Amino acid sequence: MANIVIVGAQWGDEGKGKIVDLLTQFADAVVRFQGGDNAGHTVYLGKEKFVFHIIPSGILYEGKKCIIGNGVVIDPGTLITEITGLKKRGYLKDDSQLMISEEAHLILPYHRRIDTARERVFKIGTTGRGIGPAYEDKVARSGIRMGDLIDEKIFRKKLDANLTQKNSYLVQVLKEEGFEFEKIHDEFVQFRSQLGKYVKDTAREIHEEILKGKHILFEGAQGALLDVDHGTYPYVTASNTVAANACVGSGIGPTLIDSVVGIAKAYTTRVGEGPFPTELHDTLGDMIRQKGQEFGATTGRPRRCGWFDAVVVKHAVRINGIQGMVITKMDVLNDLDKLKVCVGYRLNGRRIDYVPSNIEAFQSVEAVYEELEGWKTEIKGAKSLSDLPANAQRYLRRVEELIGTKIVMVSVGSERNETLGVQNPFASPRSRT
Ligand code: GDP
Ligand code: IMO
Ligand code: MG
Repeated sequence: MANIVIVGAQWGDEGKGKIVDLLTQFADAVVRFQGGDNAGHTVYLGKEKFVFHIIPSGILYEGKKCIIGNGVVIDPGTLITEITGLKKRGYLKDDSQLMISEEAHLILPYHRRIDTARERVFKIGTTGRGIGPAYEDKVARSGIRMGDLIDEKIFRKKLDANLTQKNSYLVQVLKEEGFEFEKIHDEFVQFRSQLGKYVKDTAREIHEEILKGKHILFEGAQGALLDVDHGTYPYVTASNTVAANACVGSGIGPTLIDSVVGIAKAYTTRVGEGPFPTELHDTLGDMIRQKGQEFGATTGRPRRCGWFDAVVVKHAVRINGIQGMVITKMDVLNDLDKLKVCVGYRLNGRRIDYVPSNIEAFQSVEAVYEELEGWKTEIKGAKSLSDLPANAQRYLRRVEELIGTKIVMVSVGSERNETLGVQNPFASPRSRT
């Protein structure tokens, strides 16, 4: 029995979807615990591509439970599109495979409009999916939950109370159009009829699975530096992306988590605004973007690209308690003569080796690099870590030293079998007392 949390160790898009799909073969259930359809988790089965926004990336395995926990914010329209898309392709044949927490909050159309309108002033570079405004309502205790949607009387009452306030905020403050009650109501009644069967007390379901000795994977969305507390605030998402939130966002206690695995790319990317000390603004950055196909899985925006930043990943290791790191997209660096790794920063002439919590300070740091030799060989076909060219192994060893955590797997392509060092992570979990 073991429960493992998988989290992004940079600014998102590290390849969490690929790794969660791969490790689901060893698990019994996969749980999403935060974020919403701002996430885009890509999985390839051969040439077939899937992008999951809300549904856990374990859904392609028949019989493995996929649970959307209470910490997720749900846009029911997007979720239904995902469900129907999967069913059309022959997956999710058994509806009992998917569960949605009755405590998960809904994203309503006004959340999206508030999100995009506020972007004009605050310029975070959000995905425009209404994530921030939905979490705000949750904390303000005015949010509408999945369980509320199921009950017509409660839904009507809550929607009415919310809409009065949202319309006045949209029209008077943001100079946007408001919404008609009946239009939203009728659309959501449709959603209710399609989603009702999946809505459960998932915290209890998860606990029961744990008591039965099942293996559970907790699938993080976004990445450490997008964490609302420990990331590059305010250029972050609106939830805690760190591993500790797997407990809060699914309803289990911290003593039930056995280990935390981080995912990091062999270089760095970021979508949206905010500091990025190792960003490449030159043709090399363009080359990485093209070779790595670095375009947002949710919004299609080009991702900003740069060198691997060991300071950022070490920060992720600390705030998540990461015990093993998976390095993805090594193959993207195949053609480079020399590689740089950021080993520290210079701040006002002083050398530091941590991410400063003050955003102005972080914005002004200058990356200090170490240069390593490239491997200049195609590594896509490699079958084991020892197959990798010496310079690729050297690169990984240096990264391992700098981040202070063992590299447990290396990904050299987007498909399941293009992964080196795969082992059953549930086989030897840290023991629990
Ligand atoms: P996530 O949000 O962390 O799940 O990551 P995304 O799916 O947004 O972005 C990762 C992208 O990299 C996807 O298109 C994956 O198919 C792809 N990918 C994952 N691992 C590798 C790898 O090792 N090599 C290459 N070339 N692509 C990869
Ligand atoms: P996955 O799970 C990369 C970024 C947005 C923006 C900031 C706030 O696929 O790794 P939001 O819409 O959440 O309020 O936007 O967070 N962002 C992501 N960047 N991957 C993601 O998810 C992201 N989800 C949000 O680009 O900078
Ligand atoms: Mg993504």
